Amino acid sequence: MTKNSPEVITCKAAVIYKSGEALKLEKIEVDPPKSSEVRIKMLCASICHTDILCCNGLPLPLFPRIPGHEGVGMVESVGENVRGLKEGDTVMPLYLGECGECLNCKSGKTNLCHVHPLGFSGLLGDGTSRMSVGGQKIYHHFSCSTWSEYIVIDANYAVKVDPGLALPHASFLCCGFTTGFGAAWKEANVQKGSTVAVLGLGAVGLGVVEGARMQGAAKIIGVDINDRKREKGEAFGMTDFIYAKGSDKSISDLINEATGGLGVDYCFECTGVPSLLDEAIASTKVGLGTVVFIGAGLHTSGEIKFIPLLCGRTVKGSIYGGVRTQSDLPTIIDKCINKEIQLDELLTHEVSLAEINKAFELLKQPDCVKVLIRF
Ligand SMILES: NC(=O)c1ccc[n+]([C@@H]2O[C@H](COP(=O)([O-])OP(=O)(O)OC[C@H]3O[C@@H](n4cnc5c(N)ncnc54)[C@H](O)[C@@H]3O)[C@@H](O)[C@H]2O)c1
Ligand SMILES: [Zn+2]
Ligand SMILES: [Zn+2]
Repeated sequence: MTKNSPEVITCKAAVIYKSGEALKLEKIEVDPPKSSEVRIKMLCASICHTDILCCNGLPLPLFPRIPGHEGVGMVESVGENVRGLKEGDTVMPLYLGECGECLNCKSGKTNLCHVHPLGFSGLLGDGTSRMSVGGQKIYHHFSCSTWSEYIVIDANYAVKVDPGLALPHASFLCCGFTTGFGAAWKEANVQKGSTVAVLGLGAVGLGVVEGARMQGAAKIIGVDINDRKREKGEAFGMTDFIYAKGSDKSISDLINEATGGLGVDYCFECTGVPSLLDEAIASTKVGLGTVVFIGAGLHTSGEIKFIPLLCGRTVKGSIYGGVRTQSDLPTIIDKCINKEIQLDELLTHEVSLAEINKAFELLKQPDCVKVLIRF
C-alpha cells in the first residue's frame, strides 16, 4: 500500500475572498495528509444551498475560503495511521464523522459525534488548514472544501464508495438529498399510513419525499413557490402539491384544509425561510404532530410565535437528517445502487470548475435542482 506522499500539490480551486463576491479560480497549494488524514483527487462535486450561505459569510465570515461540501473523489495518498482506506479508493468526503465511541455515538440516537463534529472553524481537527494561496492560509468549508481539484480530510470523515454508485449520485448523497431522506427515516421515523408536509422541494425536500414514501406515508404534500417543482416532487413520490403563490391563504391553512382541518402528522421545513418555522408548526396536528427544522437561514429571535402554544407537538432540529456517516449512509448508498432510490431526476445542470460562478446563476433557474461540477 502506498503511504503518505510528502509533496505539496499545486492545483486549481474555486476560492472566495469576500462575502458576496464572485469566486476566483486560483492555483492553490494542498499539503500532504497528516497521520489520520487522506488527500483526495476530486472527480466531481455539486452545490448545496448551504454553500450559498457560506459564500455570504454565514455562519462565520472566514475568508479566503474554498466552499463545497458535496463531491466524490479518489484517494491520492494516506497518512501513516489511516486504516481501511488506500490510494485509489473512491470516497465521499463528508462534513460529519462518526467515532463510534463517544457518548453521542454510543447512544445510537444521534449523528452528531463529539470527536469528529461538524466543524464551523474552517480548520481541520488539529486547528490548522491544509490549503494556501500565495502563502496565505485558506479556510476549509466544514471539514471538506470540495470545489478544489485536491482536498485533505480526516479519514473518519470519508466513506468508501462502491464503484456501482454513479459519481453524480455519490456527490448528491454527501448532503442535500441524504439530509432530507434521513430526516424522514432517522430523525422523524415517519410511520406507515401517516400524513407528511414538505416545505420546499429542493434536493433536501425531495429527499424527505423519497424517505416518507419509503416509510409508507399515505399522503405526502409538497409545498413550493416554484410550480416547476410539482413534477420533481411527483417523481419522488409526492401525492399532493400546494403552489404557495397560487393562493392568498397561508401555507398552514392550505395544509390544514388538505388534511380535513387537523393538519399533518409530520412537517419538514426545507426552505430556510424564517417565517415558515411558524407555518410548519401550525401545519401539524395538535398533540401528535412532529416538526423537523432542516432549512438554514438567518433566523432572528421571535420568529416562532407558537412556542407557548406548541400544544403537545414535537419540534426537532436536524443536521444531515440524523444520518450516521459510517453506520447509516452505506444503507442509502446500497438503495441507490439497487435503484430502490433513483437520483437521476436531481441532476439538471452541469458546469466545469472554471464555470463555478455560472452555476450560481443556474441555481436561480426554475428548472434547476442540482448543478454538478466537473473537474
Ligand atoms: N440541516 C442540514 O443539515 C441541511 C443540509 C442541507 C441543506 N440545508 C438547508 O436546507 C434548505 C434547503 O436546501 P436545498 O439545497 O434543498 O435548497 P434549494 O434552494 O435547492 O431548495 C429550496 C426550495 O424551497 C423553495 N422555497 C423558497 N422559498 C419558499 C417559500 N416561501 N415557500 C415555499 N417554498 C419555498 C424554493 O423554490 C426551492 O424549491 C436550505 O436552507 C439549506 O441551507 C440544511
Ligand atoms: Zn463519536
Ligand atoms: Zn449542504
